[in-house]
Amino acid sequence: MTHTIGVVRGDGTGPEVVAEALKVLEAVGVDAERVEFDLGADRYLRTGETITDAELERMREMDAVLLGAVGDPRIRPGILERDLLLRMRFELDQYVNLRPVVRYPGVATLVPSHAEADVDLIVVRENSEGLYSGAGGFHRKGTAHEVAVQESINTRHGVERIVRYAFDLARSRPRKKLTLVHKTNVLTYAGDLYQRVVDEVGSVDYPDVERDYVHVDAACIYFLDQPSRFDVIVTDNMFGDIITDLGAMIQGGMGIAAGGNINPIGVSMFEPIGGSAPDHAGKGTINPLATIGALALLLRQLGETEAADRVTNGIRSATSKMVSMRAAEMGFSTSEVGDLVVEGATS
Ligand code: IPM
Ligand code: MG
Repeated sequence: MTHTIGVVRGDGTGPEVVAEALKVLEAVGVDAERVEFDLGADRYLRTGETITDAELERMREMDAVLLGAVGDPRIRPGILERDLLLRMRFELDQYVNLRPVVRYPGVATLVPSHAEADVDLIVVRENSEGLYSGAGGFHRKGTAHEVAVQESINTRHGVERIVRYAFDLARSRPRKKLTLVHKTNVLTYAGDLYQRVVDEVGSVDYPDVERDYVHVDAACIYFLDQPSRFDVIVTDNMFGDIITDLGAMIQGGMGIAAGGNINPIGVSMFEPIGGSAPDHAGKGTINPLATIGALALLLRQLGETEAADRVTNGIRSATSKMVSMRAAEMGFSTSEVGDLVVEGATS
């Protein structure tokens, strides 16, 4: 079966890291047809468009999408983020932002007290509502009496579907533990909804999954002090954004942290979580492992389990050869890292 994979190379280092992931895709021999989408800063500067309705329609026909990065210092912050990246996530209803936090062999992190086995968790971030919904506005803008309101929208439907996804995931893992991360002591409406849904859905449909709750500020402490406390985490959009940057750091840095924007019944989009890293662009110094990890998630979502395993093995084999790797100082060029993965994935 041929998979149709949309490719958004995007901005900054996006094209370089996507090229390495596509090299790996080719090497593992999955039958794929690629459809390129010319999106990002250059396109915007050329035409004034971020993405058109027709392009979104075309994207809906893909089996999955691989995204490099969006974001460019030439463009005012917010335009590419809201009107391109978030628009794709929202319009394709990719309501799950799945971000595994795993240690690959030999990868050094900033927390020497962590053993490799301590860090093996997965964050299920709500990806379609919360503070990201764009609700709010200004009143008396630019005056001394200005009011800026930014509302967090949390619907029963939205919360329940993300919680159910997280429970299903927890049930499929050996530890079967789900932790809600929120701020129920202050966000007494949104947090209450999340807590009630976790308790109701958990007790009725997932009695075999252990439930835990941790405030988001305390979760930051545990990420450093006791990451083994976590198996699957479910959290809202904003908290998920923040804790997954910390998660990336305890797995070795932005250079290896991968994620998926998932619509379980539609088209999903996979990306390195680190962004376009403009200061690395064009130098061949960016670490492609995050994007290659995103490819592994993509293949798994397509049901290409064996190919996904081979890519993961390729990453593991590469990191074990890259002694003391940290994203910024890996000692290998971008394409050499891609070659190491290909070698490990095909041997
Ligand atoms: C991420 C990023 C995005 C987000 C930005 C670029 C809009 O930080 O994918 O984590 O906040 O979701
Ligand atoms: Mg982020």
